[in-house]
Amino acid sequence: MSSYLGKYAEYYNYIYANKPYQDEATFVHNCLQRYSTGQTQALIELACGTGRHAFELEKLGYQILATDYSADLLAVAQAEATQLASTVAFELHDMRNLQIDRVFDAAYCLFDSIGYVQTNEAVLQVLRNAHRIVRDKGLLILEFWHAAAMLRGYEPVRHARWSLPGGELLRSSHTTLHVDRQLAEVRYSLRETDTVGHVIAEFEETQLNRYFLVQEMALFLQQAGFNVLEWLPAYQTDKAIGPDTWHIMVVAQKE
Ligand SMILES: C[S@@+](CC[C@H](N)C(=O)[O-])C[C@H]1O[C@@H](n2cnc3c(N)ncnc32)[C@H](O)[C@@H]1O
Repeated sequence: MSSYLGKYAEYYNYIYANKPYQDEATFVHNCLQRYSTGQTQALIELACGTGRHAFELEKLGYQILATDYSADLLAVAQAEATQLASTVAFELHDMRNLQIDRVFDAAYCLFDSIGYVQTNEAVLQVLRNAHRIVRDKGLLILEFWHAAAMLRGYEPVRHARWSLPGGELLRSSHTTLHVDRQLAEVRYSLRETDTVGHVIAEFEETQLNRYFLVQEMALFLQQAGFNVLEWLPAYQTDKAIGPDTWHIMVVAQKE
């Protein structure tokens, strides 16, 4: 099953045009500031997509290697990097099998990307890889999709539209839950139209993503050698985690 390739990658930055990447990067920066022991400058991002958190963190003074397994998303990121004269380095890596032997002060993996690896074994592989490539007492910041909110509040059918330079993009999403595997299967149907409504392209994308409970993630992190420092509702400091918290952020430290 392919995801984040071709047209979906091409339109990724339109679909998430209103996502507050700058604020989110500031939140990550504040977590790093609060919990870092020693200097924290060299970061690795797992599942960076089009690199928008990395570009914002670069502005805050970090040196970043940003990785993803979608060559098409990385191509969008690289084009943007050239335009911005950015020093963020982009590399193609599957986070389950990271062929990297450099050491970083911290690793981060945002926007629920950890859920794409789905199985217990693969989640542990990713966390063990992160553990291997951060220095002693280095940090891991991880955002994941919260099972409680997913099971209570998921919408089986959703529709959305976005403006494109030459028209519009319409997207219908059909979600099915595979509760035994804690997976949400989202089938996207997309249609691009020109300014007078003629269809230019139609395509489909299916994504299978896992949701987690906090104590389940705690166990994975512990098994991978991380010590949890804080759980937070993602990008919020003024709220506690509750059953309607959709995205959870954990700050963990290499033991
Ligand atoms: C929801 S997007 C988030 C992208 C980016 N972090 C952001 O905030 O825009 C999920 C990302 O996970 C990536 N991904 C999924 N499985 C992966 C894997 N095994 N290794 C590396 N990247 C993966 C996808 O290519 C995609 O870029």
